[in-house]
Amino acid sequence: MKKKIFLTLLVLFIAIQFIQSEKNEGPVATNQDITHYVEVPVNIQHILKASCYDCHSNQTNYPWYAQVNPVGWWLNHHIEEGKAEINFSDLTGYDKMKLDHKLEEIVEEVQQGHMPLPAYLWLHTDAKMNQQQVTQLVTWVNKERQKLNIVE
Ligand code: HEC
Repeated sequence: MKKKIFLTLLVLFIAIQFIQSEKNEGPVATNQDITHYVEVPVNIQHILKASCYDCHSNQTNYPWYAQVNPVGWWLNHHIEEGKAEINFSDLTGYDKMKLDHKLEEIVEEVQQGHMPLPAYLWLHTDAKMNQQQVTQLVTWVNKERQKLNIVE
């Protein structure tokens, strides 16, 4: 009986490997990405790329285990949800108001430790942000928000 269950699970596991999600490796257009909308210094670009781009851009850097389902599905789900919130590769349609609001949210999420997603940091230790990086990000956001000058 136990052997039968094990074999069934094994067959299922192998079968789901054939259902691969489409890779998030879309085009990058400089007239759509965040650098077109706000000034992004190199150090901030590094932070965003290392800590946020896997789920919030068109350029996911896939680890080998992303090929293994159901991990691959789980990752893909995060990417879809993340991009729906903000896609740094494509801010098409963002007006100043929306930009300002998203910048504000970025700081809130990072300061509260909600972003980068803690479940992801467990495997992606390189995406973890140290205090200095958090401070850099906050300073940058404040500066860009000041430039946008939205009076509430
Ligand atoms: C492993 C994937 C992943 C990474 C890495 C990641 N995010 Fe997210 N992010 C998500 C998902 C999924 C959501 C939507 C669900 C949620 O809010 O938890 C989200 C939501 C957000 C939101 C909207 C929050 C809200 O509820 O209004 C912001 C802002 C955000 N992320 C910023 C960032 C920033 C900045 C980084 C890098 C420092 C980052 N994220 C890294 C997956 C990720």
